[in-house]
Amino acid sequence: MLEIKNVYCSITDSNLNILKGLSLKIKEGETHVIMGPNGTGKSTLAKAIMGHYKYSITKGDILIDKKSILNLTVDERAKKGLYLCMQDPTVIEGVSNSEFLRTALSSKTGTKVNLYSFITDMEKAMKEVELDSNMLHRSLNMGFSGGEKKKNEILGLKVLKPKYIILDEIDSGLDVDSLRIVCKNIKQYMKENKDASLLIITHYPRILEYLKPDYVHILKDGKIRKSGDISLALEVEKEGYTGINVMS
Ligand SMILES: Nc1ncnc2c1ncn2[C@@H]1O[C@H](COP(=O)(O)OP(=O)(O)OP(=O)(O)O)[C@@H](O)[C@H]1O
Ligand SMILES: [Mg+2]
Repeated sequence: MLEIKNVYCSITDSNLNILKGLSLKIKEGETHVIMGPNGTGKSTLAKAIMGHYKYSITKGDILIDKKSILNLTVDERAKKGLYLCMQDPTVIEGVSNSEFLRTALSSKTGTKVNLYSFITDMEKAMKEVELDSNMLHRSLNMGFSGGEKKKNEILGLKVLKPKYIILDEIDSGLDVDSLRIVCKNIKQYMKENKDASLLIITHYPRILEYLKPDYVHILKDGKIRKSGDISLALEVEKEGYTGINVMS
């Protein structure tokens, strides 16, 4: 279980407080959704969970299976099963996509990954996400289109097999066919990994037609202000955040 317990988070080296007492429990196999206005702290939450150095947790705790992960580094958190599909994936010039993923996989499993079997597996996975196999040999995210970057994040998911998956606006910038392909892959992954859980950050209920949520939460002013089921997401689409009754 991933538990976010009364978390206060600020931007490191500034007095900007973004999260102000946010609590959320995500159990095995569950799909949770976070929606909320722009600039309200959704990506901050995702990065704080991963341990990004720019985000400092000043109060509260984040736990995996009841153990705090606050003292763990980003790679230690990844080894615990956390995986963030970023809203804006990082470009690393000079590091090929395949080198990056193979190194990450070796580090996670603690064994050297055989190059031949890795390439074979990758080619299969790339077909499933409908990415051209030559992208394996390009620098990580360098010159990738918006949609290709998102599909590449899903490729990482298929390779690294995490347990706690955070999708930060995976649906933004995807055309209708790409959205369907990405969701099909995530759905398949969840079917094959019954103990995995999903935290979907989105602005649109469309992705939820594919990935049925157990809970939908509204984050506003640094805190979860309202929780419900998929009907809450549909209400947001129809009424906007000002139209629904969100306490502040
Ligand atoms: N590294 C940073 N330095 C300065 N301010 C930051 C930083 N990261 C986030 N912020 C500020 O914190 C607030 C929350 O940002 P965040 O990216 O979490 O919003 P969001 O809810 O993900 O918005 P969106 O829906 O637009 O993606 C914003 O006002 C943003 O400008
Ligand atoms: Mg964001």
